[in-house]
Amino acid sequence: MAEFKLPINSIIKSGKTFKAPAGTKNIKTFIIYRYDPASGENPRTDTYEVDMDHCGAMVLDALLKIKNEIDASLALRRSCREGICGSCSVNIAGSNTLACTKAIADIKGDITVYPLPHQPIIKDLVSDLTHFYAQYASVQPWMKTDTPAPPDRERLQSKQEREKLDGLYECILCACCSTSCPSYWWNSDRYLGPAALLNAHRWISDSRDEATGERLDELEDPFKLYRCHTIMNCTEACPKDLNPAKAIADIKRLLVKRRI
Ligand code: SF4
Ligand code: F3S
Ligand code: FES
Repeated sequence: MAEFKLPINSIIKSGKTFKAPAGTKNIKTFIIYRYDPASGENPRTDTYEVDMDHCGAMVLDALLKIKNEIDASLALRRSCREGICGSCSVNIAGSNTLACTKAIADIKGDITVYPLPHQPIIKDLVSDLTHFYAQYASVQPWMKTDTPAPPDRERLQSKQEREKLDGLYECILCACCSTSCPSYWWNSDRYLGPAALLNAHRWISDSRDEATGERLDELEDPFKLYRCHTIMNCTEACPKDLNPAKAIADIKRLLVKRRI
């Protein structure tokens, strides 16, 4: 599959350049999107030369070095720094991914760092994912049951039933997939997007859940589900190697199956 790349918006003007100290031998240049909606100013990109002899290996290391040592005004989001919390997702060199697991050495030339595409910006690299999280909540991502739980133990699953959740439960809600989907860009008011749909499928696939029919009823909608046109950017973008496009296809298949 061809590598998915977003076009970098050439309308955005260049702002300040922060040069590395004279004599720095190993420099990598980062071109970073800057925007503070509260300032009334247009977005710009600032350029930072980073001394790679005193920087960690990942893009997040460079962003934190810039924030800590060069320009404290840069806003970014991060927590775990090991690909678990999903909070450092941004667009690096044209691809949505996690800054903490993206190796600087894997990117040739200057490195552009933009926020996730097509989301409102809180500041700089911090996008507002309120709507994304509300869509996740709308698929009711918890176990729904009518029958009472056994009094003396958990609700059990066979090994095979549990294996059906592999490739689904690992989602860290980083939003790399949904924000790389053109259909989501244009219809995110009504299209749930690949992340929410993958999580819907996670609960549809759970042998302990007793609301499968109700969940499928909710998704049988021309916009919520069927605005997926199998573009596949979602699967290409997922930093956890999950396959939201397949999860969506599986939901569509289940809807056809229950009709016949
Ligand atoms: Fe992130 Fe992958 Fe989950 Fe999408 S499916 S939110 S890309 S972990
Ligand atoms: Fe979008 Fe993925 Fe479908 S990129 S159109 S959700 S296959
Ligand atoms: Fe947690 Fe990157 S900081 S996933």
